[in-house]
Amino acid sequence: MSNSLFRKKSLATILKDANAGLSDGHEAGGMHKVLKVKDLTAMGIAAVIGAGIFSTIGEAAFHGGPAVSILFIITAVTCGFSALCYAEFASRVPVSGSAYTYSYVTFGELAAWVIGWSLILEYAIGNIAVAISWGGYFNNLLNGLGIGFPDWLTNNYDSAPPELMAAAPHIFGLPIILNLPAFIIVILVTYLAYVGIQESKRTANLMVGLKIAVILFVIAVGAFFVKEENWHPFMPNGFSGVLQGVSAVFFAYIGFDAVSTTAEECANPQRDLPKGMIYSLIICTVLYILISFILTGMVPFTELKVADPLAFVFDKVNMPWISYLISVSAVVATTSVLLVFQIGQPRIWMSMSRDGLLPKKFSTIHKRFKTPSFATIITGIIVGVPALFLNLTIVTDLTSIGTLFAFILVCGGVLMLPPQEKTAEKRFRLPYINSRIIVPPVVIVLLYFFGGDILDRLTFNGGWEVWKHNIPFMLFAVVAIVTILLACVRRFSAIPVLGLLSCFYLMTEIGLKNWIVFSIWLLAGLAIYFMYSYHHSKLKKQ
Ligand code: ALA
Repeated sequence: MSNSLFRKKSLATILKDANAGLSDGHEAGGMHKVLKVKDLTAMGIAAVIGAGIFSTIGEAAFHGGPAVSILFIITAVTCGFSALCYAEFASRVPVSGSAYTYSYVTFGELAAWVIGWSLILEYAIGNIAVAISWGGYFNNLLNGLGIGFPDWLTNNYDSAPPELMAAAPHIFGLPIILNLPAFIIVILVTYLAYVGIQESKRTANLMVGLKIAVILFVIAVGAFFVKEENWHPFMPNGFSGVLQGVSAVFFAYIGFDAVSTTAEECANPQRDLPKGMIYSLIICTVLYILISFILTGMVPFTELKVADPLAFVFDKVNMPWISYLISVSAVVATTSVLLVFQIGQPRIWMSMSRDGLLPKKFSTIHKRFKTPSFATIITGIIVGVPALFLNLTIVTDLTSIGTLFAFILVCGGVLMLPPQEKTAEKRFRLPYINSRIIVPPVVIVLLYFFGGDILDRLTFNGGWEVWKHNIPFMLFAVVAIVTILLACVRRFSAIPVLGLLSCFYLMTEIGLKNWIVFSIWLLAGLAIYFMYSYHHSKLKKQ
């Protein structure tokens, strides 16, 4: 019996639990193993291309100008490091819990709980954002057809103008303002996730084909409308303007990691999961960089602060039918993001429940559909109900910060893994590059370019009200110095070190307010852990 907060699961136990499968003990081996590299890559793209590129990119381009494309490259590199670390874990721990399970093996139970709790931000809260964005584009479509829901059924309290508040029906003196389409799509997608991975796989593959085709079409047609003068000045608000888009751009990349939650439904997870994640990230990166150049080349960046930037630019060049096509594909694209995340969240809860950290019900597998049925329904409720009421930006920032935190722990976790044993099977191996060779030159180059900026942040200018916003950066500076020293002394593998530092840095750009909300979220999670999970953990009982 282990009472430590750092009690760890051994890999052998994890694989045994996964194979034993079901909490109700009726059937062993539980889930359908149907996913191959093509499906996993499609699933990655299904999860990545969505609200980010169709909605939040607008505001990022407004602040950063054409240089937002640089942010897409920086974020892709950061995600690339993390994807390689996810791939390493996926090849060693091929079960459904994603970063949660990976932390359980490396850092122990408390960290695993914290990660599982943070992943709710990525999957469930992230999906609230996606559902809201879906609702927006869907309404555009209906309005284009001259039909549509009344305004009080497509809005939220935060964004509703006073006239709408007054005109909406009232119950007990309170205006009723709901985002009904966002709620309905969550229910439909939850139903699909409930009835099976086969159906979800087919639907995701179909939607991915359509959205890639439309995005390629947009790039090809948009290229003819690019005016070079729109790319000058390239960085109108300096690098700090570009960095204002971190949360939005990072949000656009979130999702490739969701593939790792389907490990138990893969035919050969150790070989195929890493490939699926990395291929999907590469494809999305190329498309995003091209789109960001096209978007900022078609109209002046100052006009891009709109909720539907891709549709907007084609309206601006008098091609309303392309604009309409984009709205259709935005609806399709965001539906597929919803589907993958709605599949991912219950599988993480299922893993946590198998470990005793959540009630047993969360790992019940449906006898006929072979999906985690109870956890899927709870996900539907947790995503659908807030989608009725919340506004988009609140949830995007929280999703980005929580996901970056998960990525940091995954990169850190890889550093704690023992070297891979040589095996005959083909599986992914993270290339080892000694940190001593790579990290110091990278740091010197960054200091050369950004030294002045960094000094500025470390000096107490402008009083507390201004300086307090530098607290996340100070924290980063301390962690960075310690990590770099350790990495060089102990010759750590460079990819996870760079991944950890770049994700931490991006986190510092998401604003103090979000750090505070995120800290409260973590504290609430810790309270649940100490009140319930710690005592019910299977490891405690062993
Ligand atoms: N990357 C996903 C999207 O942009 C979350 O919708």
